[in-house]
Amino acid sequence: MAEYDKDKQAKEYYTDIPVNTHGFFLKGAHSLDWGMKNRLSRIFRPETGKTVMFAIDHGYFQGPTTGLERPDVNIVPLMKHADAIMLTRGILRTTVPPSLTKAVVMRCSGGPSILKELSDEELAVDIEDAIRMNVACITLQVFIGGEYETRSIHNMTKLIDMGLRYGIPTMAVTAVGKDMVRDAKYFRLATRICAELGAQIVKTYYVPEDFETVVASCPVPIVMAGGKKLPEIEALTMSYNAIQEGAAGVDMGRNIFQSDNPEEMMLAVNKIVHEGYNPNEAYEYFNTLVAAK
Ligand code: 5RP
Repeated sequence: MAEYDKDKQAKEYYTDIPVNTHGFFLKGAHSLDWGMKNRLSRIFRPETGKTVMFAIDHGYFQGPTTGLERPDVNIVPLMKHADAIMLTRGILRTTVPPSLTKAVVMRCSGGPSILKELSDEELAVDIEDAIRMNVACITLQVFIGGEYETRSIHNMTKLIDMGLRYGIPTMAVTAVGKDMVRDAKYFRLATRICAELGAQIVKTYYVPEDFETVVASCPVPIVMAGGKKLPEIEALTMSYNAIQEGAAGVDMGRNIFQSDNPEEMMLAVNKIVHEGYNPNEAYEYFNTLVAAK
């Protein structure tokens, strides 16, 4: 793979210097219009500056994945514990009660299934339908380093431009291209490209080395992607570490709905993200809730 970072000098990310948010609670948003700020304030709690997003959009490329076979039965009851729900318009319209007041983060890309090249995506939702569905945010996959990287990035910029037209923020989800190494250097590249081209939120994976530099070099909020199912203590520890290193929240799916105790896991994640619990405190809380069932 071509070396894309020629600079061998030590880099300075000033991780000890907080970003000036110029009076608004979220970094990079102070120059946005009222509507954008209001939608962002529905996703991120102004009092903590953080979000617990519940990701259930997996079906748009992999069908009824384990735990998402019947979202009406086991997923909708969990939504009340999240700040935001990330899902497709199809599940939103068919399955989520319109009385739910949680922020909707609508999946707007699609195309290949897991049977094909996932980076071969297109935009798959008209902005008018996102407006009609009263979403707080629109989102898509961005395959930096993927086979269809340029189109993927242009999908993002088209979505950003449509969102700016109507005051709807865009969350870019960095999808790791097949041959890419999941390290801080790659995620600094991927998240920064998304932010440079206008995304107002970036969702990306946690890395144990130098994640704080990924956050520091991205001028908009980073939300940690949950990723594959881990033992609860490990998922809670990953969430804690990401928050400690500057993430503005988590967007978790499998680590919640594939848990044997999903509601208790969602509540424990909230304790870490919004109440500063450390992993052991959150895990003890989780076990206490489970024991009391
Ligand atoms: C893939 C995605 C998925 O659609 C989903 O949001 C992933 O959630 P999790 O990894 O927490 O199960 O964004 O990149």
